[in-house]
Amino acid sequence: MSAEQAIVRLAYLLAAVLFILGIRRMRSPATARSGNIVSAVGMLIALVVTLFNNQIVSWWEIIVGFVIGAVLGAVAAQRVEMRAMPQMVAAFNGLGGGAAALIAINEMYRAHVGMSSPDFTSTLASLLSTLIGALAFTGSIIAFGKLQGLVTAHPVKLPGQRYINIGLFVIAIGALVWALIAGGAQFAAFIVLVIAALVIGVAMVMPIGGADMPVVISLLNSFTGTAAAMSGFVLQNDVLIVGGALVGASGTILTRLMAKAMNRSLTNILFGAIGAPPKGGPALAEEGEKSVRSVGADDAAVALAYASSVIFVPGYGLAVAQAQHQLAELASLLESRGVDVKFGIHPVAGRMPGHMNVLLAEANVPYDKLYDLDEINPQFDRADVAVVVGANDVVNPAARNVPDAPIYGMPILNVDQAKSVLVIKRSLSPGFAQVDNPIFYMEKTMMLFEDAKKGLQELTSAVKEV
Ligand code: TAP
Repeated sequence: MSAEQAIVRLAYLLAAVLFILGIRRMRSPATARSGNIVSAVGMLIALVVTLFNNQIVSWWEIIVGFVIGAVLGAVAAQRVEMRAMPQMVAAFNGLGGGAAALIAINEMYRAHVGMSSPDFTSTLASLLSTLIGALAFTGSIIAFGKLQGLVTAHPVKLPGQRYINIGLFVIAIGALVWALIAGGAQFAAFIVLVIAALVIGVAMVMPIGGADMPVVISLLNSFTGTAAAMSGFVLQNDVLIVGGALVGASGTILTRLMAKAMNRSLTNILFGAIGAPPKGGPALAEEGEKSVRSVGADDAAVALAYASSVIFVPGYGLAVAQAQHQLAELASLLESRGVDVKFGIHPVAGRMPGHMNVLLAEANVPYDKLYDLDEINPQFDRADVAVVVGANDVVNPAARNVPDAPIYGMPILNVDQAKSVLVIKRSLSPGFAQVDNPIFYMEKTMMLFEDAKKGLQELTSAVKEV
């Protein structure tokens, strides 16, 4: 190995170590920002070394590509609303999958026209990268479209959809094996593989409802990582193999964590029909019991102002209303009056992993006030008021005792154990899983029917008057 090669390999090793350290620091919101920087430095090292090591295309082509990509990326990241983050991740992920597929397609084309003669391993890696990258590309584009409202968010299923998907997979694998045996010379088989993979991405994601897209995006993200790792084998680039494998593994772990926190199997997410009311209709409380105590901000403010301990539970409605700043303001007002304030964060509150943590961090709520499910649950019975802001499924006791409910078995935040409960939402309508929530009908529950932002603003003004 020449000295130059040794330096390149060492630099790649350093980049890989920085990726891993960066991911490790992302385990806590307090260190996540620096983790992002550490990983970005790793990526910079990898990029610079690759540029100087492999002068594949001319410098001006690289610079033009770099400027276009950097400007588009920076503008998109600056402009995106916090609520639209999942679709931005989907779009970026799709581009990653597409890029991995293009690298592989280029290699296969070079082999086809006799410019290279890849060995078996390299051909296999190219074919797998094409399959996984291309389906991640179209799947992510459909996921983006569903979340952005460009494609219907409803599940779209053709009759016999499952058999169509299986048929498409059989065609793709058949074409892959054919192209592999023919050593890349059989370009027609390769074209069939590309088309089948692109169609599989669409066929896989169209039947899934818009609300399940975050889990699907995480799954597609792991596909993109795997495709990138395959491209690393094709290009014999160590850092691409390591980086791709890290994305593939972390995407898979995140997908599993999300599915587990929702108490659903991946098969159920991919093929199930969440959104339909549970068997036996949505009503869980007996008709006679269903009375609701609707309160105004003034009454609710009295309960808060005289409480000694309050736990806030934010959910999807907080994100929709963009009410995180109003929530932070009310929390600090209560603290200034001597109330012990905490926030209970459910792992799947909202619509993306860490959704509530990101919103509350944006509103400068200190991290040490945020408690996860296991930490906060034993504390609810000592809380005077549990304030549920735009959350529903994550506090729904049906998850404990209604076996038919789609959320049955999902761990929830035990707000029903608090001495009193204040729910801020606009109506009695159910949450994402379409299951009626018995906490609305408890005697100790006050319902403040209001948009979260407006309701919190009114509460804050009212607490100041108490
Ligand atoms: P949800 O169960 O979806 O309930 C949100 C509630 O917010 C709704 O009942 C709605 O009631 C209320 N709301 C909507 N807009 C509002 C506004 N402007 N002001 C006040 N309230 C508003 O939310 P959750 O408790 O956060 O649970 C999340 C659900 O999403 C879980 O079922 C979870 O499994 C699922 N999910 C989560 C993820 C991740 S990773 N977080 C991914 C996919 C799916 P009103 O219409 O009456 O106001």
